[in-house]
Amino acid sequence: MTKRIALIGSGLIGCGWAVVFSRAGWDVAFHDIKPGRAEQAAEDTKASLANLEACGFLESAKDCAKHLIPVESLDTAIDGATFVQENVLETPEEKLAVFQELDSKVRGNVILGSSASTIPASEFTQDLEGRERCIIVHPCNPPYLVPLVEIVPAPWTAGSTTQYCMDLMTEVKLVPILLQKEMYGFVLNRLQVALVNEAMHLVGEGVASPEDVEKTLKNGLGLRWSFMGPFQTMDLAAPTGFKEYATKFGHSYRNMGKELGVAKEWSMDAINQVDQFLRADVPLDKLAERGQWRDRKLMKLVSDSDS
Ligand SMILES: NC(=O)c1ccc[n+]([C@@H]2O[C@H](COP(=O)([O-])OP(=O)(O)OC[C@H]3O[C@@H](n4cnc5c(N)ncnc54)[C@H](O)[C@@H]3O)[C@@H](O)[C@H]2O)c1
Repeated sequence: MTKRIALIGSGLIGCGWAVVFSRAGWDVAFHDIKPGRAEQAAEDTKASLANLEACGFLESAKDCAKHLIPVESLDTAIDGATFVQENVLETPEEKLAVFQELDSKVRGNVILGSSASTIPASEFTQDLEGRERCIIVHPCNPPYLVPLVEIVPAPWTAGSTTQYCMDLMTEVKLVPILLQKEMYGFVLNRLQVALVNEAMHLVGEGVASPEDVEKTLKNGLGLRWSFMGPFQTMDLAAPTGFKEYATKFGHSYRNMGKELGVAKEWSMDAINQVDQFLRADVPLDKLAERGQWRDRKLMKLVSDSDS
């Protein structure tokens, strides 16, 4: 039996989800409060599918497009839905109104996800009867090419809801991470906001031009960060790995952190956790080899960067 996702709110992110799920063979019902928007969302999604096919990222845009079902009413959208994902505006009031309606209408065992990018589910699901089936499933934009998705349960979200979403996201070829507790902005946006705020600060203080800040990301940090994270980057920036890096440069991070207003000490516990994670992936005697792998990845990226 074909599975069906109901998208409540069919703007930019609704359309992104539609590509992800139609690509995975799911039926996709679009609903939007704005008359005509669901139809338009199906057309926008078809254009993205065609672009992916033209670039060799999809076998048949036509086959995926057959799964797209724009509908006007919410009731029709959720009828027969296997999973429901809300993508309306980013305010607790909007999310609450939609979740109240969904919780009263969607049958009991169907999970209700929210694309919220900053607001934890506990801010709008606390008083719902079915609050244990509500959860944040926060994608990146566009989710069909940037596969990270944050799964953020509220304190009362059932373990089975969380597991379902982790499995579902893997099934539709995304890369889920699970937050151990709620925090406003989750992980991706908190990291992004820290960096973007400082970028604005550097421009505002006259330290660097906007163009040079862009270059710093594009030709500096971004190149490495496109295939490895900050921990692996540090691991390869000292001959004996991350712990050496932390000893050599930890104080510089603290000093800069003071100016940035984020001067938290690197705790030994955090250092050990990061080190264990890195060593499980690359033992110390393989670190130099991993450095060469990084260089090969960079060579490929640099040669592709203008295409
Ligand atoms: N844009 C991004 O890059 C991005 C990335 C990840 C997550 N998100 C999150 O996804 C959600 C949607 O963002 P977006 O960028 O797609 O916004 P958008 O403005 O493009 O789309 C929102 C859609 O929801 C519709 N809508 C509003 N109220 C509704 C209701 N009660 N019922 C049905 N439809 C309703 C609007 O008509 C609109 O078409 C937000 O929570 C946002 O934070 C956005």
